Amino acid sequence: MAATGTSPLMREPTPEGRFGRFGGRFVPEALVPACQELESAFRSAWADPAFHDEYLGILRSNGRPTPVTECRRLSERLGVRVLLKREDLTHTGSHKINNVIGQALLTRRMGKTRVVAETGAGQHGVATATAAAMFGFECVIYMGEVDVERQALNVFRMRLLGADVVPVGSGSRTLKDAINEAFRDWVSSVETTHYLLGSVTGPHPYPWMIRELQRVIGDEARDQCRALLGGPDPDYVVACVGGGSNAAGTFAGFVDTAAHLIGVEPAGGAAVGRGIPGVVHGSLSQLLQDEHGQVLEAHSVSAGLDYPGVGPEHAHLADVGRARYVPAADAEVLDALGLLATTEGIIPALEPAHAVAWVVRAAGTDELPTGSTVLVTMSGRGDKDAEHVMRMLGPQ
Ligand SMILES: Cc1ncc(COP(=O)(O)O)c(C=O)c1O
Repeated sequence: MAATGTSPLMREPTPEGRFGRFGGRFVPEALVPACQELESAFRSAWADPAFHDEYLGILRSNGRPTPVTECRRLSERLGVRVLLKREDLTHTGSHKINNVIGQALLTRRMGKTRVVAETGAGQHGVATATAAAMFGFECVIYMGEVDVERQALNVFRMRLLGADVVPVGSGSRTLKDAINEAFRDWVSSVETTHYLLGSVTGPHPYPWMIRELQRVIGDEARDQCRALLGGPDPDYVVACVGGGSNAAGTFAGFVDTAAHLIGVEPAGGAAVGRGIPGVVHGSLSQLLQDEHGQVLEAHSVSAGLDYPGVGPEHAHLADVGRARYVPAADAEVLDALGLLATTEGIIPALEPAHAVAWVVRAAGTDELPTGSTVLVTMSGRGDKDAEHVMRMLGPQ
């Protein structure tokens, strides 16, 4: 479906799945037909009003529309007007549910009965296990051993929901290794199985399709901000970037406005900021790698951002200067989490705490001048991270 407005940005990629010089479909031959099948299923579904009705109907019964919350005390403190788009209030506690419901409907449309997925923070895994239970699919979730440990609660939730959670012990034992395993499974089971990928990464059509499934965030937020602000758009729109799906969905709603688009990456995994072009997991994008092309390990306090690559459309938005990508360090992320909790009564997930951290750091500087209005996507709630944060901060 066409994007709103007249900007050529954040529309359909080229037939090869390119956004500028990034994107594409770099997969083993065995997966090319599966990607083509998915692309044509998505094209026909996205052009079908009945699909939209069903998709939006299910999202409505899972917490949409999410509100925009005005942060009065934090705004006073920082000298900028802070609004939060509350994806943390959706069923399962993060924006991941938007994408998963859409792909579950496509799985059914393609006549497949089994889904595999990767997960880092566990939120995509929980959302996938939830949808699998709703639709009656068999469900296998791959998760790095490190993440299994730091997101134990989500592992338990996935198992309660009936999913088979497979710990992955290779490489850095985090998200990128879980993705490798999910691809391996998909290659050998493609007849019955859909790979329900969790972010705007991977081969064409995933980055485009998942951005479209997440644009509901930005479209809602734009209308809600206009109503709340009496007309104008926010001056700044900020979202954290792991693979980049919550940021892509948010930016899609504002790309045709004058808002500055800011993606916040973890300092230890800043693929747009510090990466160089390379192919990972099926597409060409900015990637942390050494001079020999070996993928470098990302580090982030948050499992959901611990990924050395980024969705190709973000690499393109940075390339053409439409969005800016900035880092946030672990320590300032923990401070920002505490500040939002104590000023607003909202405990964010560690991932969106990165976006808040940038706002806190930049407020009152040339980067984010006093008096600006800033919308931050609160991509998920902090329950999943509570134990991990307690281990880092102590029981207070
Ligand atoms: C709450 C939350 N926000 C953000 C992310 C990062 O993903 P993306 O960059 O695709 O939005 C995750 C990933 O697990 C997450 O759980």
